[in-house]
Amino acid sequence: MCMKISVIGAGYVGLVAACCLVNSGHEVTCIECDDQKRKKIQEGIVPFYEDGLERLLVKGLESGRLSFAAGLSKSTSAPVVMVAVGTPSGPDGMVDLSQIYDVMTAVAEQQLKLRVLIMKSTVPPGLGAQLQRLFLSGKGSGAAYISNPEFLREGQAVMDWYNPDRIVLGGDNCEAVELAKDLYKDIKAPVCVMDITSAEMVKYASNAFLATKISFINEIANLCDLMEADITSVAMAVGLDKRIGSHYLQAGLGYGGSCFPKDTRGLNFISSYNGYTFNLLKSVIEVNFQQRILAIRKLSLHLGSLVDKRVGMLGLSFKPGTDDTRESPSLDIIRMLINEGARVSAYDPKFGVGREKLLPPGCKLHSDAMSAVSGCHAVVVATDWQEFAEMDWKAARERMLYPYVLLDGRNCLDPGKLRESGIRYIGMGKR
Ligand code: UDX
Repeated sequence: MCMKISVIGAGYVGLVAACCLVNSGHEVTCIECDDQKRKKIQEGIVPFYEDGLERLLVKGLESGRLSFAAGLSKSTSAPVVMVAVGTPSGPDGMVDLSQIYDVMTAVAEQQLKLRVLIMKSTVPPGLGAQLQRLFLSGKGSGAAYISNPEFLREGQAVMDWYNPDRIVLGGDNCEAVELAKDLYKDIKAPVCVMDITSAEMVKYASNAFLATKISFINEIANLCDLMEADITSVAMAVGLDKRIGSHYLQAGLGYGGSCFPKDTRGLNFISSYNGYTFNLLKSVIEVNFQQRILAIRKLSLHLGSLVDKRVGMLGLSFKPGTDDTRESPSLDIIRMLINEGARVSAYDPKFGVGREKLLPPGCKLHSDAMSAVSGCHAVVVATDWQEFAEMDWKAARERMLYPYVLLDGRNCLDPGKLRESGIRYIGMGKR
């Protein structure tokens, strides 16, 4: 059954949702208030790098079932509204809900033909029930509220949309839950139906748990460093235990991105706000930041003072497969290096010219890896792009300066090959 849906927000989540829903046969109006961004998308250009999305966007535009508008209005109103706006968090973890309130106010004021509001944005547990009470029931449109958290990974978002491990629906209106189920009829996955607050908690709990796995394996890696064990062998064997699982056991510089840092801080804040001290989560967040400091310590150990040392930073995005640099470990490490007096040259395969302003001041951007590492005393591989594993490290060594240090911050290179080419290889918990 083809449904008419308004998707609010054309960011990483909203645009993927809009294009995938159209691809599944639905009719979508995507609401994006940023004129420049919206015009670009309407021309078939995705303003960020996401594998397979541009193809779906073009297909959607050609089908005539995907349109864009600047705001909600009578003409763009649909019985189903999906909200996918940003909920950034401050350094203290408090979630900024201003965009959510703006949307809810617009929805309530316009008295749209709304039947079901589906919340995709990550909001603190408890908020959805409150929004339903304040904006929808009573004097509102009487529409039902469904919490439907997303678990899309950047770079694999389209694949994740069609192959989720589960679909979570939180709501107390059976008819609305059935309608939400229909939206995903073509997707094979268990559907978990629960109350709104529990659904909201699933999102935070999932991200916090994955972040915990990463910080845990990073601590084991740090211990491996001290005891001359090898984290790759340890993590591989630990992960073979089905109760543990092999995913998210890749040790390195820690997690970044738009979700894990924000959601771990957010859950920590929510816990404190509700009178609970989430000690484990506090440690997860702290360990994650310490991994960045550890990179500086490892470099200092081999370079001595960092004043006037030249360091090449390979990788700026928070992980491969995306051009997103939000909360990327490399940006913090560059800041710390510059603070210590080092001179930093950086390269990332997806960090195009024109985005230099996102880099810490003093960091020089290069258009290829070889020129970024030339003349450097040390190189840090901060993102596990395949390109770095395939690089001609022998040629790189010839262009580098003594003591030819390479910090493999993602344990993604072959230490034997690196050492053969005369590079002093340091890993994260590598023998
Ligand atoms: C994450 C969740 O996976 C997704 O379900 C949620 O909806 C959004 O947040 P994403 O931010 O795209 O997705 O990245 P993900 O692939 O999960 O990686 C997050 C960070 O953890 C990256 O910086 C990555 O390098 C790091 N990571 C991941 C590790 O350090 N080790 C690992 O073993 C796995």
